Amino acid sequence: MSDLELRALERQHVVYGWQPQRLAAPLLVTRAEGVNFWDSCGNQYLDLCSGQINVNVGYGHQAIIQAMKRQLDCLTYIAPGFATEPRVRLSSMVAKRCPGDLQYVFFSNSGSEAIENAIKIARAATGRLKIYSAWQSYHGATAGASAISGDPRRLFAEPVVPGVAKFHYAACYRCPFGQSAPPDCGFSCLASLERQIDHDGPETIAAIVLEPIVGTSGLYVPPVDFIKGIRKLCDEHGVLLIFDETMTGWGRTGRWFACEHFDVVPDILVTAKGITSGYVPLGVTVFTPAIREKFLDTAFVGGLTNEGHTLACAAGIANIEVYEQEGLIERSAALGEYLNKSLLELQAMHPSVGSVRGKGLFACLELSSDRERRIGIAGYRNARCTIAGEITSRMLQMGVFVVAKWDFIFVAPPLIISRTALTEAIEKLDKVLAYTDELVRC
Ligand SMILES: Cc1ncc(COP(=O)(O)O)c(C=O)c1O
Repeated sequence: MSDLELRALERQHVVYGWQPQRLAAPLLVTRAEGVNFWDSCGNQYLDLCSGQINVNVGYGHQAIIQAMKRQLDCLTYIAPGFATEPRVRLSSMVAKRCPGDLQYVFFSNSGSEAIENAIKIARAATGRLKIYSAWQSYHGATAGASAISGDPRRLFAEPVVPGVAKFHYAACYRCPFGQSAPPDCGFSCLASLERQIDHDGPETIAAIVLEPIVGTSGLYVPPVDFIKGIRKLCDEHGVLLIFDETMTGWGRTGRWFACEHFDVVPDILVTAKGITSGYVPLGVTVFTPAIREKFLDTAFVGGLTNEGHTLACAAGIANIEVYEQEGLIERSAALGEYLNKSLLELQAMHPSVGSVRGKGLFACLELSSDRERRIGIAGYRNARCTIAGEITSRMLQMGVFVVAKWDFIFVAPPLIISRTALTEAIEKLDKVLAYTDELVRC
């Protein structure tokens, strides 16, 4: 089919997420390999955001493709009530890499579904209703996941499902409590959360959900004591702690899971994305033996047609082997240091860069129109602002794909990226920042 014919069909039938359909004009992509993809005219692009920050091992990895082919040849699908070798093996591989006693694994099809299941599990296990989550968060696009999300993507789902409440994360660059940097601030965020729990009554709260490092809502790396403090509050009040590691899991931050940076183990861990690096959809909800006990004599709270799908599990097994064989977790940590240093150099050169934040190969530049007063260049909820779109399109013209949103440019390449390719991409970011510097000077 010609490109023209495809485009005509596209206009008649395809719906693209998170954008006005009139504005949707995506590249037609035909091939991807390693850290690059190609459009139908043969133009090459470096993917500096691993797709949706999920293609951690890069595109077209033969070890994963071959494992998927072998699985298709032997068992494409079986009803979820049956046991299969890929499901059992992947469950045990996930449990082995999770910290602490996170051991029981429920598979779904996406980060959003994994979150929905975590909410249901927490409510059933505690007999309590309320779920607390951070304003600085995104947890997915299904009803419950939208409800607990804090960033503007939540607004599409309002009025949200009942039984959720929000608190402020340790977003220290622009402290919601107007405080100085930790530890001098005295952790007003934790004190406020404690007051909130007290007002609500701990006996009504099933779980606190948070991203141990916030992803696309602003990439906040919190102080260790914030995460430890939340664990302590949960323990004191019999509230379950859920970490959403949909984006931060699987080496993205230089450890298997971001919670390892804080030495804190949640009661439930949610992950997706990097478990299969986008080869097949897969969501994961992992929990402790104490939670599993609640479902020994009463039915587990859900089930899905594609729960533990053989193809997804086979891809997950091969993908985890790739992380290990290629040393990608360590690579993310080491190359992440270089990335951080390079982005700080950009900040020093460009007045429009207000802040650089990140961990491992997971970083963001926050753009600012007034560095002193920390004012965002576009505005967090300003959907009409075209700056982020302009950045993405200028970078594409230079052959690099980045995700830019509100005031943020995210840099999260596949963990296999070479230092040379990363350097070249950063040089292109340097060029695009000349455009944002101009806006700030005007
Ligand atoms: C932290 C977090 N949770 C949940 C989700 C939702 O995952 P999915 O898009 O696979 O449903 C995302 C997606 O970006 C995410 O970043």
